[in-house]
Amino acid sequence: MADILKIEDLRKSYAGGFEALKGVSLRIREGEILALLGPNGAGKTTLISTICGITTPTGGHVEVGGHDILKDYRAARSMIGLVPQEINLEPFEKVINTVRFSRGLFGKPADDAALERILRQLSLWDKKDSQIRALSGGMKRRVLIAKALSHEPRVLFLDEPTAGVDVELRKDMWQIVAGLKADGVTIILTTHYIEEAEAIADRIGVIAKGELLLVEEKDKLMARMGKKELEVQLSEPISSVPASLQSQALRLSADGSALIYTYDTNAERTGITKLLSEVAAAGLVLRDVVTRQSSLEDIFVDLVQEGAA
Ligand SMILES: Nc1ncnc2c1ncn2[C@@H]1O[C@H](COP(=O)(O)OP(=O)(O)O)[C@@H](O)[C@H]1O
Ligand SMILES: [Mg+2]
Repeated sequence: MADILKIEDLRKSYAGGFEALKGVSLRIREGEILALLGPNGAGKTTLISTICGITTPTGGHVEVGGHDILKDYRAARSMIGLVPQEINLEPFEKVINTVRFSRGLFGKPADDAALERILRQLSLWDKKDSQIRALSGGMKRRVLIAKALSHEPRVLFLDEPTAGVDVELRKDMWQIVAGLKADGVTIILTTHYIEEAEAIADRIGVIAKGELLLVEEKDKLMARMGKKELEVQLSEPISSVPASLQSQALRLSADGSALIYTYDTNAERTGITKLLSEVAAAGLVLRDVVTRQSSLEDIFVDLVQEGAA
């Protein structure tokens, strides 16, 4: 697929000189879901705000569908929908009017059929005449998405769509995102929830301190950086790792009933055979052996720590 968004060496220094983006380059393919994962203060909102024209960059270039966000602002902006981090809706306005008004802001002709399609897709059609203030938190979030989709953009940014939301609503949101992707919308979402990126993204970018530390297919990322843990369960608990095994990268489980060995699935030798024979030589009796794939969480924590080092 073609790249719908090209970001080259994007920089942003806020007044006072703080560098929130330190030269971010990234290409986004049409139709994909990219999750930008990063801790608070990483620069996620700054990145999105800059692409959407809310914040002025201090360096670099961004093109949306071939339109430069500065020189060709209107054309670029019309291709983008933005769901902001904060809920900012008029409490006394009706749902349908809120969405209609947003469409009008983009100079798009009225199209009630398009609005109906959007509201139905977000399960808001039966609430179209409700005032915003009468809606639940989850519905308000869906209204924000409806507003962002009102002018039928091809790229949708969701800034922390599930921050502070309960588990059920989070899953609803994931379903909505999957539905939009099925409609061909390109989606960039920011999150500091690793499981969110793991659940819905095609690609994952990790951002920390204004730098994009990596961007990778989710599946490849997990495989490339994946480590496995081997848990050697013992028939009798022990109080410490025997001296003869100290050279191994081993730790003892909290209850002393298992030795945990971490290895790289891509290494030429995993060291498992050697480990097991040394365990036997130390006089330990095995009850069972279990392996576990490390999660994206471990990968993320490693990366952000490296980035901070
Ligand atoms: N208007 C602003 N003026 C000065 N500093 C800001 C402004 N907005 C954000 N920052 C700083 O830029 C950094 C990145 O912020 P932000 O993009 O909101 O991060 P994230 O969305 O990843 O939590 C933070 O250190 C934040 O304090
Ligand atoms: Mg933010």
